[in-house]
Amino acid sequence: MVSQSDIKKRHKDLIELINHHNYLYHNKDNPEVSDQKYDSLFKELIELERNNIFLDSSNSPSSRVGDKPESELEEFIHEIPMLSLDNAFSSEDLYDFEKRCISNLATKDFSYFCEPKIDGIAVSLVYENGNFVKAGTRGDGDKGEDITHNAKTIRQIPLILKTIKSIKHPSKIEIRGEIFSNLKDFSLFNQQYSKSGFKAFANPRNFVAGSMRQLNPEVAAARPLKIQLHSVGFISDKDLFSSHSDMINIFSEWGLPTSKEAKCIENLNAAIKYCDEITFARDKLEYEIDGVVLKIDQKSLQNKLGFSSRSPKWAIAKKFKAEEGLTEVLSVSFQMGRTGSLTPVANLKPVKLSGVTISNATLHNMDEIERLDLRIGDTVNIKRAGDVIPKIISVEKAKRVNKSSIISSPDKCPCCQNEISFFESQTPSLNIDHLERNDKNCFGLDQFKESLKHYVSRQAMDIDGLGIKTLNLLVNEGKVSSVIDLYKLSPSDMVGLEGFADKSINKLIDSIKKSKNIKLSNFIYSLGIKEIGIETSKNLSRKFKNLKNLYTASIEDFLLVDDVGEVASNNLFNFFSSKKYINLLNQFIELGFSFEKESPQESEGYLSGKVIVITGKLNEFSRDDLKIILEKNGAKVQNTISKKTSFLIVGSDAGSKLEKALKLNIEVIKDSDINNFLIDQNNE
Ligand code: IVH
Repeated sequence: MVSQSDIKKRHKDLIELINHHNYLYHNKDNPEVSDQKYDSLFKELIELERNNIFLDSSNSPSSRVGDKPESELEEFIHEIPMLSLDNAFSSEDLYDFEKRCISNLATKDFSYFCEPKIDGIAVSLVYENGNFVKAGTRGDGDKGEDITHNAKTIRQIPLILKTIKSIKHPSKIEIRGEIFSNLKDFSLFNQQYSKSGFKAFANPRNFVAGSMRQLNPEVAAARPLKIQLHSVGFISDKDLFSSHSDMINIFSEWGLPTSKEAKCIENLNAAIKYCDEITFARDKLEYEIDGVVLKIDQKSLQNKLGFSSRSPKWAIAKKFKAEEGLTEVLSVSFQMGRTGSLTPVANLKPVKLSGVTISNATLHNMDEIERLDLRIGDTVNIKRAGDVIPKIISVEKAKRVNKSSIISSPDKCPCCQNEISFFESQTPSLNIDHLERNDKNCFGLDQFKESLKHYVSRQAMDIDGLGIKTLNLLVNEGKVSSVIDLYKLSPSDMVGLEGFADKSINKLIDSIKKSKNIKLSNFIYSLGIKEIGIETSKNLSRKFKNLKNLYTASIEDFLLVDDVGEVASNNLFNFFSSKKYINLLNQFIELGFSFEKESPQESEGYLSGKVIVITGKLNEFSRDDLKIILEKNGAKVQNTISKKTSFLIVGSDAGSKLEKALKLNIEVIKDSDINNFLIDQNNE
């Protein structure tokens, strides 16, 4: 019989071994053993603990995902308040900071520890004698929420700190840092998440915050979360570290992830250069940051400077230039899209945001104007959403002036007098012919240009060399007044037009000619019929095979096509039975258009052909929701397990179905792993 002490020894060895491999895999990106080897060690650990209840498994790797969800998040008291940082927005602010430090310290003799300021969720990890005890969020700085169960699922967090020769683990230390998600991982997860029918997360920060607030640790365990540690709260041994850089090195030796970009820098000018370098490299980093943190490196000087009620006096965050700003709405114009919808656009008094001059912002539709209660002349708060498209976030009502005027949508095109109707979300829409040029300088002309842009686009006729600038020129110069005119262009029409060289003219004419030989689906799509996207065009092409069959089809015939509902079938019928359009289409035929054969129906989804059974109590999804997601992506969801079953999805308390699936060697997916499963399937 194996003695208890042998079992305890094997348990300890296994924990050490698994922690070691875990660290190499998650913190060093440098695994030493195969996944199978790791899994077999893990399995041995689980079995050992299951069969020997006397073993202490509280910090065993098996405890990373506890089996019971919490009923509520407990309070987490910070023994030392979790403070914020003072902000600097310019180099002058940094020089002022240094001046303050020098005058308080009566010395210039210090260096700076600098690192990116991660835009994540602040967290405190408490270790006692090297053992992970608990984790908490910032909350109000004094009291946060206990998120131990979720933090434990982040494999980068060591449950036992490595032992190093030079330093004994303090009896208690609160190590602080940020939990975040890498942009790539987040975007992949988010795509899958919204494809699965859930509302996508607005940004990585919300994603991390939402994940940390979960009661069931299996949710966080299935999400791509990372951590970096950057400072210390309570510490039992106050003199353990002589400098910040020394502390960060020791964190790293203990197995805690720290910033790869962090640097100890001699003087402020060099630190400012570092800030510029990080600002420049911002887009290349794997995660979002919102500035750079500068800390005086020497601990003795940090202690001398101390804290204000809000922040340490020895550190400052150099924030990136504000992406929000105030400006005035000068006017609102309406931009015509190819389907005839008008988008209101605010023309703004130019203002610089993150180095870019902003002079307009989209307002989407009339509902948005109503929601903002926006008037012309208003002072507004604008933001570069996702750093690109400017958006009005709010109106400064207090600054509203008497001359501000209400914004109304035009009810007629001011030039051609065509009526404008309103669709969903009060999007004003103009119903006119879009494939031929209307009057000069009216909404119809814009619509025509947008329609041409769509006609030549990749999924439509795929004509190279006809960007919006060239199209504008050709339309404004009167060379193109109908899509048909594209095929009548000769080199002499283009010679002398800005930006045209002989070579590009010939290439363009070639590309236009080539487009006469195209699939019917691309051609149908290029016509820009409302509600008819490329997938529906493919279905139409498969069913009707040629243009003639489309002319003679009834509304009911169109309704038989996949994806075609009442509105689309009416639009199709009106288009293909209109004399004007039949005449136009005949002109295409006269030009020598011939349509290539359509490719057969592609599989309907990445799960097509897969048979899936669900069993047990699901925590992540409701059973109905999950069924819809799986079926939407092509899977067949059945109730009974058979040899044909591809996967069994199991929640808690699974019974005979699980047993049968295991017997038949059917792959079993835990419900907490569904998102990863879907991502993997989609990538296959
Ligand atoms: S040092 C006493 N270093 O930014 C605070 N903070 O806005 C010392 N943050 O509370 C913090 N990256 O949660 C520090 N490299 C970094 C950071 C960082 C992000 C967070 C931290 C802090 C907040 C202030």
